Amino acid sequence: MAGRLVKAGLVIRFHAVTLFPEMFAAVTASGISGRALEAGLWSLGLWNPRDFTSDNYRTVDDRPYGGGPGMVMLAEPLDKALDAARQAGGGKVIYLSPQGRKLDHAMVMELAGTTAMTFLCGRYEGVDERLIGRRVDEELSIGDYVLSGGELAAMAVIDAVVRQIPGALGGEQSALEESFVDGLLDCPQYTRPEVWPQDGAGGKVPAQVPSTLLSGHHENIRRWRLQQALGRTWLRRPDLLAARKLNDDERKLLEDFQRQRGESGK
Ligand code: ADE
Repeated sequence: MAGRLVKAGLVIRFHAVTLFPEMFAAVTASGISGRALEAGLWSLGLWNPRDFTSDNYRTVDDRPYGGGPGMVMLAEPLDKALDAARQAGGGKVIYLSPQGRKLDHAMVMELAGTTAMTFLCGRYEGVDERLIGRRVDEELSIGDYVLSGGELAAMAVIDAVVRQIPGALGGEQSALEESFVDGLLDCPQYTRPEVWPQDGAGGKVPAQVPSTLLSGHHENIRRWRLQQALGRTWLRRPDLLAARKLNDDERKLLEDFQRQRGESGK
């Protein structure tokens, strides 16, 4: 169909080697990623290592050498599943694990610039180290906590990367206006009604929508939003602010924000 693909070449072919392929419905069936899949902007090949076993029990794991709790995923079925993904054009092999490099916006953009990648999703206590040493190009973590498997982490990566494919976000939405793009957190958002709740009771923020947003003055609104983004980043993620240069205007907006906070007692 004409116009279905925004631009030739900007299609990303994901693959996942997983014991739980059905989990991936979370990104294929709903929301922005689901719609982008239907639009042909990305694809997903699922490869179950159980389908690459040769024994009657379809064994995919065994006890760890040296003892200890849990099971370790066998190298051989994973190796064969990765071969199948590679034959389908699998690209770089990314193993999801808490030991990996921590995912951030820069990494998402890097991945969004490639055309294919294969996620290796571990379960149990992990994957035989020899398989990792021979087949994995990158080890990636989505945070300093332990998930029960790599699938949720792989889906987090898929979702974040798909949002960056041109055309994945509908209509006026733009990946350029989101948190982190500019090294800052997002500004707060409001929608109708202008006062909520009606009695104005409770909460840490006023019930009234900030007047600037109702003013229709585009430049003032832009500056208010920038100031809020700067202020929030200062309050919540000073590490991000330290890593970003501020121009004179931004510095003034932030100082203003800080002064107001100081007066109202941060
Ligand atoms: N697998 C288990 N925990 C994980 C994490 N935090 N990030 C990526 N993959 C994982």
